[in-house]
Amino acid sequence: MTAEIAFHDLQQGGSTRELPYYCELARRSNSTLELGAGTGRVALELAGLTDLSANELDEHLMDELIRRARARSLSVTPVPGDATTLDLGRRFDLILAPASFVQIVGGQGARQALLRVVARHLAATGVAVVAIADVDEILRECATPAAPQRLCADGRSFSVRQLAATETEAGAQVSWQHSEPGGTVDTVRLTIHRVSTEDIGAHAHASGLRVSRVHQDPGDAASLGSRYCVLGHVPEHSAKPS
Ligand SMILES: C[S@@+](CC[C@H](N)C(=O)[O-])C[C@H]1O[C@@H](n2cnc3c(N)ncnc32)[C@H](O)[C@@H]1O
Repeated sequence: MTAEIAFHDLQQGGSTRELPYYCELARRSNSTLELGAGTGRVALELAGLTDLSANELDEHLMDELIRRARARSLSVTPVPGDATTLDLGRRFDLILAPASFVQIVGGQGARQALLRVVARHLAATGVAVVAIADVDEILRECATPAAPQRLCADGRSFSVRQLAATETEAGAQVSWQHSEPGGTVDTVRLTIHRVSTEDIGAHAHASGLRVSRVHQDPGDAASLGSRYCVLGHVPEHSAKPS
């Protein structure tokens, strides 16, 4: 296992509380596209339930996801590349953007582009779910540095320690300290943009989509106050070519 993959797995953690929700949606969908799938925390759960395509920008993470799927005899179609510019020439019954993906792709322009991609790839009666974390909750949760999380792989020990998050104009800057075998220590930072359900509604509207429902994650303390925006096509737009 490479350090990059170990750190990704550690940062994504073992959060599983929203998986039953995504699995239930996948079971009802012939085809599913996950945007920003990483090493497959969600994708590997869905692959046996639906015809799954998994998008990921980082080619090493994409390769690892496919390797893990093959090792479990699961079928996953890789969709490498930037989710904000995808044009696959096909549509899906279900599109998922889990784990605050819409908040890490970039600023307003990137979010708007992402919603256009969702509209272009969502079937006429399809459902898309965009998860949004509460930035204030993230800042509260990360106010005190956490204990390091460790992962041992191939006889090597990796650790990730979440440092205090700082508030920025865009949202929250979350920092992690990565420690590799051999003593190399690196600090990695990620901006989680402050995004409201109204922002998603406005971007959706501009793309011919509408928010049909917003719901709260039921009691998932680890999900930092996530809310789920459920999107579908505005009926008059659904028949138009992309
Ligand atoms: C927060 S992780 C979530 C991984 C997985 N969906 C999960 O829930 O565990 C977000 C992933 O999105 C990927 N990513 C970031 N920007 C991207 C982009 N523009 N297009 C596609 N993937 C991207 C990152 O490499 C990372 O693996």
